[in-house]
Amino acid sequence: MADYDCVVRGGTVVTASDAYRADVGIRAGRIAAVGQNLTGAQTVDAGGLLVLPGGVDTHCHIEQLRAEGGTDEETFASGSHAALLGGTTTAITFSTQFKGHPIGPTLDAYRLLARASAIDYSFHQIITDPTDAVLAEIPGIVARGIRSLKVFLTYDPFHLDDGQYLQVLAAARRCGALVTVHCENYDAIDWRSKALIADGRTAPKYHAWSRPVEVEREATYRAITLAELVDTPIQIFHVSCAEVAKEIARAQARGVKVWAETCPQYLTLTADDMDRPGFEGAKFMCSPAPRDKAAQAGLWDTIRRGTIDVISSDHSGFGFTGDRGKRMHGTDVPFTQILNGVPGVTARLPLIFSEGVATGRIGVTDFVRLTATQPARLFGLTRKGRIAPGADADIVLWDPQRRVTLTNAVMGHAIDYTPYEGRDVTGWPEAVMLRGQMAMQSGKVVAAPGSGRFIGRAPYDFIKPTGRLPNGFDAAAMAIGPSGKTIV
Ligand code: URP
Ligand code: ZN
Ligand code: ZN
Repeated sequence: MADYDCVVRGGTVVTASDAYRADVGIRAGRIAAVGQNLTGAQTVDAGGLLVLPGGVDTHCHIEQLRAEGGTDEETFASGSHAALLGGTTTAITFSTQFKGHPIGPTLDAYRLLARASAIDYSFHQIITDPTDAVLAEIPGIVARGIRSLKVFLTYDPFHLDDGQYLQVLAAARRCGALVTVHCENYDAIDWRSKALIADGRTAPKYHAWSRPVEVEREATYRAITLAELVDTPIQIFHVSCAEVAKEIARAQARGVKVWAETCPQYLTLTADDMDRPGFEGAKFMCSPAPRDKAAQAGLWDTIRRGTIDVISSDHSGFGFTGDRGKRMHGTDVPFTQILNGVPGVTARLPLIFSEGVATGRIGVTDFVRLTATQPARLFGLTRKGRIAPGADADIVLWDPQRRVTLTNAVMGHAIDYTPYEGRDVTGWPEAVMLRGQMAMQSGKVVAAPGSGRFIGRAPYDFIKPTGRLPNGFDAAAMAIGPSGKTIV
């Protein structure tokens, strides 16, 4: 009798630290062995291919519910299909708490939508309105396995002021959650945007002018310092350049638990992409704004140094032509009324492999660390992101030589464009397994919608607070809400 249900044979297994020739034995959906000459009831030939852990994308906007009703255009069925085409097997998406509303009912509705996913998934809980009542709900939400909260320091109607941000940090500290932060200064952007519009500078390219590096750097410094005050671990989302990463490195050097993410758009697009005729530049609008070529080089340096240790897609579910996407408010509108975000869940791994590994900027083990192992570790996805006994058998067979031209048809998402149209990449996923089952083969998704599972995330040591508090006083433990009363 065969030792394993399935053996992935003859490939080069890549982990966050090593690359070596080995077979992978799978039993009951998990990796049971990594070794030589394994025998299985089924065999998958990986000769000439890299055997990578399934990509873990910890920042994906998929079928996000909207305050005004409805959702983003990307659905869990289409977004997970796209993810598999690009080699991603797990995503963390976003449930939103809307101003004036509790968390629970929206989260329940979102969980129902997510049941259509063909990949495994978990959620970040966005908090936009940390009232006493919302803060009181947070422990129950975290206990349901949603162990990360997301806050925006900019964007109407999501942004939190410093007092509100402190309340979320304190709530997270009380229940052992990680806080992820969109760092840009709300008032600075508002002030510059009004001036730009008054001066007739309304085209998409002025999006970048409205939010220069200073706006991101200041908010990053503030986000870190307030997190340090509460002693709550945080991750800074979508770092756009080395100046911002330097603030993070300074904090890491003094022992603050702060981690950083960047995204392919900051390594491949520039502000010039938004400077196209008419509305075309809107395709490249995201926040923070893409910078320039020098910023891209600086970002690669900070990735190599380890300051930035996660590369996610920040996949956005807005199309270009539909009435729920970029032109929702029309095309003859100032940049402030154009939805932000670019799609990228399919392109993430190919772009990073091509721009990182194929060019020699990073090694193949770095690629695995940045796109699978570290995101899983940071967000408590304990069975994901590794080729090792005990891990889920989420496996990508990757052809490091294959050249592909990115087009929107290749992306397989529900969005009607890709900002990477016509770009050539080297390196492509040939097949993807999810928990030991073939999910994508030769560009065809074979996993059925709904085959993904929700991953509840239990407490984990990696994000424990440091225990260092000013004067040794734990203000968060007092649980005083914005009303001045104890949160119950
Ligand atoms: O422009 C972006 N990044 N849009 C998506 C929402 C966010 O800020 O993460
Ligand atoms: Zn953001
Ligand atoms: Zn985002």
